[in-house]
Amino acid sequence: MALKLPSFSFLSSFAPPQMASLRSPKFCMASMLSTGPKEVENVKKPFSPPREMHVQITHSVPPEKIEIFKSLENWAEQNILVHLKPVEKCWQPQDFLPDPASDGFHEQIKELRNRANEIPDDYYIILVGDMITEEALPTYQTMLNTLDGVRDETGASMTSWATWTRAWTAEENRHGDLLNKYLYLSGRVDMKQIEKTIQYLIGSGMDPQTENSPYLGFIYTSFQERATFISHGNTARLAKDHGDFNLAQICGTIASDEKRHETAYTKIVEKLFEIDPDGTVLAFANMMKKKISMPAHLMYDGRDHNLFEHFSAVAQRLGVYTAKDYADILEFLVGRWQVEKLVGLSAEGRKAQDFLCRLPPRIRRLEERAPGRAKQGPSIPFSWVFNREVKL
Ligand SMILES: [Fe+2]
Ligand SMILES: [Fe+2]
Repeated sequence: MALKLPSFSFLSSFAPPQMASLRSPKFCMASMLSTGPKEVENVKKPFSPPREMHVQITHSVPPEKIEIFKSLENWAEQNILVHLKPVEKCWQPQDFLPDPASDGFHEQIKELRNRANEIPDDYYIILVGDMITEEALPTYQTMLNTLDGVRDETGASMTSWATWTRAWTAEENRHGDLLNKYLYLSGRVDMKQIEKTIQYLIGSGMDPQTENSPYLGFIYTSFQERATFISHGNTARLAKDHGDFNLAQICGTIASDEKRHETAYTKIVEKLFEIDPDGTVLAFANMMKKKISMPAHLMYDGRDHNLFEHFSAVAQRLGVYTAKDYADILEFLVGRWQVEKLVGLSAEGRKAQDFLCRLPPRIRRLEERAPGRAKQGPSIPFSWVFNREVKL
């Protein structure tokens, strides 16, 4: 295993690849240096999830800024909770799946499987990766509850922030459920390998580098919701191209939830820009310098130590989520929060503003200079589709 230094690159679609080579579950910096990689392989630990090798900063926002979020309680109730849908008006996975209590159940499954047979393996890699990402939901609720000033202190806290987090989680929970059940019924994928990947991923957590800061946290979630909106939207489009309108509807419906979530999170950050433009522009630049890592970046199936990079490469090739999308999302957020028009910033704030406004074209230039990589990937076996080979 080569030890690569972090590099400035946006070539991997879902996540910047700077940590890829450090991500093996068996990698341990200290023992690597003293004994070499061979011995590291032999070290038996009862449980050793993949992890990232950078310093984890905690509680970086001072208490007086955390107070801002407490003072926004009423604002959040009136402006953020309105983006939640009442449960009775929400779709449920069962609305899109064969009804096990109906006489036509077996016939409906047969139809679903006939349609699924028309779809190529590479599409299933994307759908499985998206499903696994959704299924690691416990991690995302945990992540939101790491944020100072907005966390759910009791598990049933009545604050607007905690109410939002629980209801958001409950909405998101339907995404993984629906995709999981669909994929199970399709008969196209190795469910046990997928289930192992989910267990590994939840066990590993995620490392979004948000430092317990609600500024960084809500910038991260704004980016993420838009990224998932784009990728589910593209899987919907591709399902339609493959003639599966039911699957297209499934992915499209999930995408529309993500859009609503994006609206809520970007509204929170918009408010922060209004109250504390300097602090917010610095947080935005900070987050983009670290790069937005995707929620499932620590994905592992027990076999492929670079599973996430491989999944991302297929997503890039199929145009489901690409380096261009990364730049587009950033550009969208810079526009949405009117970063260019901010005035009265400190010298540091102006530097951050300048950095952010120049970043999207810079990412695009880097992307254009990566010569023809999308067409040149090798084929590798994916355990999710019974080790059949899929082109990267
Ligand atoms: Fe989701
Ligand atoms: Fe979402």
